[in-house]
Amino acid sequence: VNISVLVSGGGTNLQALIDKIQGGELEGARIVQVIASREGVYALERAAKAGIKGKVVKETGRLLQELAEAETDLVVLAGYMKVLEPAVIDAYRKRIINIHPSLIPKYCGKGFYGKRVHQAVLDGGESVSGATVHFVDEGVDTGEIILQREVPVKPGDTADTLAARVLETEHVILAEGIKKVMAELPEKEGGNQWAE
Ligand code: GRF
Repeated sequence: VNISVLVSGGGTNLQALIDKIQGGELEGARIVQVIASREGVYALERAAKAGIKGKVVKETGRLLQELAEAETDLVVLAGYMKVLEPAVIDAYRKRIINIHPSLIPKYCGKGFYGKRVHQAVLDGGESVSGATVHFVDEGVDTGEIILQREVPVKPGDTADTLAARVLETEHVILAEGIKKVMAELPEKEGGNQWAE
């Protein structure tokens, strides 16, 4: 399964995926490219170190072209900070997944990204937070949930300490979510989707 990973930041989720695939955990999965929404993100360094093609793409038309040229079966948003345009959602219906650092539908949607998510959880007095892997549809963090896992909030937690704890769980459930989706991927129109 050809996976294109879209990134905007440090790429720790990407790194977890690279490590798990190299460790033989995701049979049949191959990261064919890493596409960053902006220059200078460390995620591109991680791709280069792993020998994976990386590039910066800002325009939807070019994004669709790059995804198609790499014969992408699955698009994984790993710390990707842009909202995909409907044309991309349409082209990859039920083939785009995202990882969000809260228990959706709580603390998600516009404005809830990065540290803000965890600060909102603390401000909300929650004793439990978590991470969610979901399909991407036209909304923000609104697609069908694939997998969720709880993470405890501990006394004295700051947004940073909670973020770090949730990030560890993100790294685990992203791979599990991809495994689940790969098992259920609809046959691709035409060619054999498993052809390497
Ligand atoms: C993290 O806050 C993560 O929760 C969210 O994007 C941010 C950066 O992730 N998915 P990464 O380290 O760039 O993978």
